[in-house]
Amino acid sequence: MAKLEGKVAVITGGASGIGAATAKLFSEHGAKLVLVDLQEDLGTAFAKELSDAIFVKADVTSEEEVTAVFTKAKEAYGKVDVVFNNAGIGRVTPTHDLSYDEWRKTVAVDLDGVFLVAREAIRAFKEQDGGVIVNTASMYGWVGSPGSAAYNAAKGGVVNFTRSIGLEYASENIRVNALCPGFIDTPIIPEESKAVLKDMTPMKRLGQADEMAKAVLFLASDDSSFMTGSSLVVDGGYTAQ
Ligand SMILES: NC(=O)c1ccc[n+]([C@@H]2O[C@H](COP(=O)([O-])OP(=O)(O)OC[C@H]3O[C@@H](n4cnc5c(N)ncnc54)[C@H](O)[C@@H]3O)[C@@H](O)[C@H]2O)c1
Repeated sequence: MAKLEGKVAVITGGASGIGAATAKLFSEHGAKLVLVDLQEDLGTAFAKELSDAIFVKADVTSEEEVTAVFTKAKEAYGKVDVVFNNAGIGRVTPTHDLSYDEWRKTVAVDLDGVFLVAREAIRAFKEQDGGVIVNTASMYGWVGSPGSAAYNAAKGGVVNFTRSIGLEYASENIRVNALCPGFIDTPIIPEESKAVLKDMTPMKRLGQADEMAKAVLFLASDDSSFMTGSSLVVDGGYTAQ
């Protein structure tokens, strides 16, 4: 059964990894898509492969560019029903070597960008009959990890931001939940780290992007109709340890 028939979904970070896998699954479930990313060539080519999709190049840290995404989405499809707020970056740097610029950049994309996109989504949803936001946090929003201070801070912020706006708009037919992935086999993970991360995971493998897409579809569709302000951890058992 198509779970997003007639829905319009904006997906940030939609050119690669978890965002691209989710775009594919959403498309199979009948959604019209607005893919947002900095990677223009990849995003444009990918949008052409999908049945009803456009690509918009935008930086989620730019207020103007985020506003333009929603304007273009409404011009193309008349509305926005679902926003997968997923663009993100991550690097491992010991905290005593972490420059303020790198800290700011990580927090800018992974937390400020989530706010800017969510704010625009809520503005659009208030003009219509509600909508759904899925924010990508991380299991590293729940637990710490040496060398990931900025990422941990930003993703922990996304988990509590999700609770906050989930509550704020709960009575307005606007649902907001977060996905908290474990180690997933996407370009964000350096090749040389994969063996170690597999070993750190109780299931002894990396998660796949399409396993995240299925969780996002659950959070984006009516299957999760009584959920808001929650975080869904999908991590091969990592945070159960
Ligand atoms: N892969 C993992 O192990 C893992 C684990 C936990 C959380 N996450 C989160 O999942 C999300 C997706 O990551 P992924 O694993 O698919 O990695 P990815 O690198 O394949 O995808 C991230 C995408 O975001 C885009 N992006 C980065 N900065 C942007 C910006 N300022 N504006 C617009 N787009 C931007 C990138 O170009 C890229 O296409 C991220 O938020 C990441 O932190 C990933």
